[in-house]
Amino acid sequence: MTEVGLNYTMIKLVYPLVWLLKSSKALSSIAVRLSKLTGKSKYRIHPKHLIAYEKPWYLKDIKSNDEVLDLGCNNGQHSLRVAKRCKRITGLDQNKDQLKIAKASSKDKGIKNVTWQNHNLEKKLSLKANSFNKVLCLDVAEVNKILDGVGFKIISLKPIVYDTPWIGFFDLLGGISLKLYAKISVWKKEKVKSNLKESTGFRIVIQKIWH
Ligand SMILES: C[S@@+](CC[C@H](N)C(=O)[O-])C[C@H]1O[C@@H](n2cnc3c(N)ncnc32)[C@H](O)[C@@H]1O
Repeated sequence: MTEVGLNYTMIKLVYPLVWLLKSSKALSSIAVRLSKLTGKSKYRIHPKHLIAYEKPWYLKDIKSNDEVLDLGCNNGQHSLRVAKRCKRITGLDQNKDQLKIAKASSKDKGIKNVTWQNHNLEKKLSLKANSFNKVLCLDVAEVNKILDGVGFKIISLKPIVYDTPWIGFFDLLGGISLKLYAKISVWKKEKVKSNLKESTGFRIVIQKIWH
């Protein structure tokens, strides 16, 4: 084979592999399945919910008489942590499959002060005035639109996720080894600080105003 032919064959082989490693959605969903298949979790849960590399930042703001709303709660892993510290919490998400996992997890853990609500936040959400005094909204990319729909005013947001095309590949590694994923997560967290503009996912830094 000539050198040009060899290079061409290499490109043909390597390019699909690079493409695959960058198909973040597909790889992330494999990682979620691997969590269950490899016995890391009873349910299909993203590796990010299975590592404890630091105490969640929001717990310090939760008081025992708080009534909390977790917007975009997904499989409820954050809501369940908060539930142990507050009076009651409602986890809300549009994804029914993830809410099923949330419900099963709260049952497994015997947590009773949590309710789950299926709702698309782009539609009007009817809530009783003063029914919640704190809102959690973690890594919900659509946060601006959503909170606007619900009737909150955003005061400040802070990026929390380092946006890299390799995210799916990292997730896949997490599906294989949580120890490795914890190390990658610490590294990604450091990257957020130095790449604010390239980061995605948001947390609300200052308490929201209900109106
Ligand atoms: C990246 S996940 C974050 C989940 C969780 N808060 C966390 O930090 O792990 C974003 C979540 O927001 C939910 N979401 C996005 N748009 C939504 C909408 N319009 N109404 C309700 N939930 C929505 C998704 O279903 C998903 O569970």
